[in-house]
Amino acid sequence: MTKTDYTFCEAVAYTDLAAQYGTPLYVYSQEKITQAVTHYQQAFATLQPLICYAVKANSNLSLLRYFARLGCGFDIVSGGELARVLAAGGQAAKTIFSGVGKSVAEIEFALNSGIYCFNVESLPELARINDIASRMHKIAPVSLRINPDVDANTHPYISTGLKNNKFGIAYADALTAYQQAAASPHLHIVGIDCHIGSQLTDLSPLIEALERLLLLVDQLAASGITLSHIDLGGGIGIVYHDEPVPDLAAYARAVISRLQGRAIRLVLEPGRSLVGNAGVLLTTVEYVKPAQTKNFVIVDAAMNDLMRPALYDAYHHISNITDPAGETFLADIVGPVCESGDFLAKERMIAAQSGDLLAIHSAGAYASSMASNYNSRGRAAEVWVNGNQHHLIRRRESWSELLSNEQSCLC
Ligand code: LLP
Repeated sequence: MTKTDYTFCEAVAYTDLAAQYGTPLYVYSQEKITQAVTHYQQAFATLQPLICYAVKANSNLSLLRYFARLGCGFDIVSGGELARVLAAGGQAAKTIFSGVGKSVAEIEFALNSGIYCFNVESLPELARINDIASRMHKIAPVSLRINPDVDANTHPYISTGLKNNKFGIAYADALTAYQQAAASPHLHIVGIDCHIGSQLTDLSPLIEALERLLLLVDQLAASGITLSHIDLGGGIGIVYHDEPVPDLAAYARAVISRLQGRAIRLVLEPGRSLVGNAGVLLTTVEYVKPAQTKNFVIVDAAMNDLMRPALYDAYHHISNITDPAGETFLADIVGPVCESGDFLAKERMIAAQSGDLLAIHSAGAYASSMASNYNSRGRAAEVWVNGNQHHLIRRRESWSELLSNEQSCLC
C-alpha cells in the first residue's frame, strides 16, 4: 500500500468524501476492482473460465452492474441475491445458485429466471429441485457440490470443506448422488463443484480438492456421465495485515496444468479477492477515552458496519487520515454499540483525537453486505470512486426508514 492509498481513493481525497457524504462511509475504487478482475481473467485466460462473482461479498447494485459489464457471471445463495443480480442487469444464464437451504420459492424463481445451474448440496435438495422442475415442466441444470474433506487451514467459521461442515455432498456419496441425478427426468447434470473455505492463505488444499474432484470426473465419465464444467469455488485470500497470501498466477498455473487437454470448462466463484482491498470504511473519532487499564478510541462506525473483528477476531488495518503523522498511543478502537464485542481493533498503536477521520482498510468484502441495524443504527452510505469522479451508490439509511416496516399497534 502506498502512502496515497491512506489519504486518497484514486484521485479523490477521503476528507472530501467524508465532508460531502458524512461518516461512517464505505468507499470503493473502480480501478482496484477492475485490476482484480483482470488479474483473474489473465491468469486463467487459457482456460477461458466463467468467473462468477460471489455476490455475498458485496451485493451493492452498482458493484453488480460493474461486474456484469466486465463479463462476470454471479454466484448467489438466495432469492434476494438473484433479484439483485437481475436488477443490476446481470445475466441469469451466467448465474449459479449455491447454498444448503434453497426454499421452494427460491428454486421456482431461479428456474423461471433461467439460471446457469444449481449447485446442489444434498440428496433431499436434488429431489426437491426435480419435483419442482417436473411441476413447472422444466429441466433444471444441476452441478453437485462435493465436500472433498480437505482442511483449508482457515478460521473455523469460514472453513467449509471438512466432513463435519454442513456444506456439500459427502465425497463417499458422490457417485450415488450423480446416479440419482442422472435417473431424475427433470434434472440435467452440467457440472461438479466444491468450495472448501474462504480467506485461504495456502494453495495446497485448493489443489488437493481439485485433484479429488478430477478423480470423480473420471469415474463419472467411465460410468457414462460427462460433465461440462468444474467449479472450484471461492477465490484466494487477501492481505489484511501481513499474512502471506497465495500467488494467483501460481494457483492458475496449477489449475491449468491439471485441466489442460480435458474438455471441461472452469468456473470460479471469487468474492473477497475481487472487492476486499478495493474498499475502505471511513469513520470519525467521537471521543478518546482514557480508562483505568487501557485507552479507548470511540468512533462512529461499529460492529453493525463491520462485523468481522467481533465475529472472527479479524484484523483490519486502521489509519488516521486527518493526522497521519500524529503521535500514536495504544488503544482499543471501538464503536458506540452496547456490547463489549463491539470493537474494530484491539491494542492498536493509533494517533487519534476527537474529530479525526480514520480509514478502516480492506472493507470492500463482507462489510456492508454483513451490516445490520443493531442498536437501531441506520446502515452507512456507500460511494463509488472512478478517477476524480465519485457517486453515491447507497444512501445512508434514515431513522424513518428504519421504522418503515413496522407498526406501533396494541396487537
Ligand atoms: N462460493 C461459495 C459457495 C461460498 O460460500 C463463498 C463464501 C464464496 C464462493 C466466496 O468466497 P471468497 O472468494 O470470498 O473467499 N463472512 C466471512 C466470509 C464468509 C465466506 C462465505 N462463503 C468473512 O468475512 O471472512
